[in-house]
Amino acid sequence: MSCLLFPVCISALVCSTLFGSVQAKGKHKNAVIFLVDDGGFMQSAYNNTVCDTPNLDYLSSRAVTFTRGYTGVSSCSPSRAVLLSGLPSHQNGMYGIQHSVHHFQSFDGVRSLPNILSNHGIMTGLVGKYHVAPKSVYTFDYMKTSPIDQVGRNITHMKHLIRKFLKKAKNADKPFLLYVAFFDTHRGGVNTWDRLGPFMNKWGSGAPGMGSIQDWQPKVYDPSKVIVPFFLPDTPAVREDIAAMYTTFNRMDQGVGLFLKELFDAGHKDNTLVLFSADNGIPFPAAKTNLYEPGMGEPMLISSPDHTHNWGKKSSAPASLMDFTPTVLDWFGVQYPQYKLNGQKVKLTGRSLLPLAANPYDTDYNHTYASHQWHGITMAYPMRVLVNSRYRLIHNINWRAPYPISTQIFPTSAFQGILNDTREGKPTGWYKTLHTYYYRDEWELYDLQTDPKELKNLAKDPNHKETFQNMQKKLQAWLVETNDPWRCMPHSVLLQGECHLMDNEFMP
Ligand SMILES: *[C@@H]1O[C@H](CO)[C@@H](O)[C@H](O)[C@H]1NC(C)=O
Ligand SMILES: *[C@@H]1O[C@H](CO)[C@@H](O)[C@H](O)[C@H]1NC(C)=O
Ligand SMILES: *[C@@H]1O[C@H](CO)[C@@H](O)[C@H](O)[C@H]1NC(C)=O
Ligand SMILES: *[C@@H]1O[C@H](CO)[C@@H](O)[C@H](O)[C@H]1NC(C)=O
Repeated sequence: MSCLLFPVCISALVCSTLFGSVQAKGKHKNAVIFLVDDGGFMQSAYNNTVCDTPNLDYLSSRAVTFTRGYTGVSSCSPSRAVLLSGLPSHQNGMYGIQHSVHHFQSFDGVRSLPNILSNHGIMTGLVGKYHVAPKSVYTFDYMKTSPIDQVGRNITHMKHLIRKFLKKAKNADKPFLLYVAFFDTHRGGVNTWDRLGPFMNKWGSGAPGMGSIQDWQPKVYDPSKVIVPFFLPDTPAVREDIAAMYTTFNRMDQGVGLFLKELFDAGHKDNTLVLFSADNGIPFPAAKTNLYEPGMGEPMLISSPDHTHNWGKKSSAPASLMDFTPTVLDWFGVQYPQYKLNGQKVKLTGRSLLPLAANPYDTDYNHTYASHQWHGITMAYPMRVLVNSRYRLIHNINWRAPYPISTQIFPTSAFQGILNDTREGKPTGWYKTLHTYYYRDEWELYDLQTDPKELKNLAKDPNHKETFQNMQKKLQAWLVETNDPWRCMPHSVLLQGECHLMDNEFMP
């Protein structure tokens, strides 16, 4: 073992000389990413004062909080692959979820953030949910990814693993990237909802048969007090579900506090960049797997020790998980490598968020993109999205097919209530009908300022013709730049780099 260490130390030395910015005044620079699973806007920074989030509030007081943070795709594995590769899912190949029969994975040639950093002498660690593939593309020097509930929900267990990683980095005298990927606030398996709570919110509570998580003080919420978001029917069953989600979100918040303390106690308070976000929208109808605001919008913040004068401020720049790879590379002063993927030179189309830590009001950050193909294997529903400071444009490529429903969302009281009421011809109290939810127009254009619920499609409105066409053009240019195999769909065939009409809509 010790002879193996020697060449590693040499290369670390060489790297830190070549890439001087990895070290700041003799002190290593580090980065930590906290990712919440299916987590929504439950902290005070987003005006939720019911769910207790003192640790995220503290982190916000040391950060710029994005009021318009977005995911690049509203599905677990694809979203993690976007975060870790900096490439949209249609470009990195992680088209859907990775586990069991679905088996999606990124292209072998993708160069991911952890692999690039590792090559530059930066130690990389993952504690929590992995859910990407193949392993050769996404390799961390230190990986603790199972059992998933222990590494993703048991904050005491996670604390011990993080402590070990920090010790390893210290012993190796290396800068590090630590990626903490909570499994909270994902729902538990549907067969455990009754026993462990729909969000595993009873697991580890110390109640008989639940085991205990020593560092967790469980908080229980009164369903009558929770905030029901506009995209859910306000029923007692939905309120109970949200109350359970708050308990789990608060467990994650307690974890963030615990892990920040580990970081600070290890001497990394003033030299570590901290990023916080979620992979996709909350596991309810209209949110997760959708690219409307409730599915694409994520809590997000950047805590940069180099920009303390902006701590506590908010930025309305559309920031994205696609920006995390460029941000961390920028932080460490590491160049993105030059290479080709599927015959085309790869360029990151996300941007470093560090300039927003320096100036939260930078108006050059005025748009972002998203793209979705699958969630589970039966859920093909490719979408392409451009969001700018005012509008959202969505292209639903398979718009003639009914929008598919995930097996995690189908059994929720929210969705079952909507189904039951619709079948019985009763009012659902929902903001959409099942029919409008299932059957979407090919193009959707929403004015987020005047219509934040996205109920009035302006794509065919003559007054918005120019906005629509300009956004279509911009979106298409991004699809070309990112080598999207779907970019001619559904009306043309992509042949030798060009779209050839197949006259399926416009027969004379
Ligand atoms: C929170 O509420 C304040 C006051 O109503 C409002 O100005 C602000 O935009 C809200 N913030 C978010 C993130 O919704
Ligand atoms: C959580 O982790 C701690 C430390 O490993 C362990 O003692 C405890 O039993 C775990 N809790 C559960 C519910 O598994
Ligand atoms: C949007 O940002 C681009 C640079 O990313 C800039 O050139 C353009 O002027 C900005 N537009 C507005 C309306 O601020
Ligand atoms: C929906 O209807 C089924 C069958 O009547 C019933 O078992 C279930 O409890 C109902 N669920 C909701 C949320 O209304």
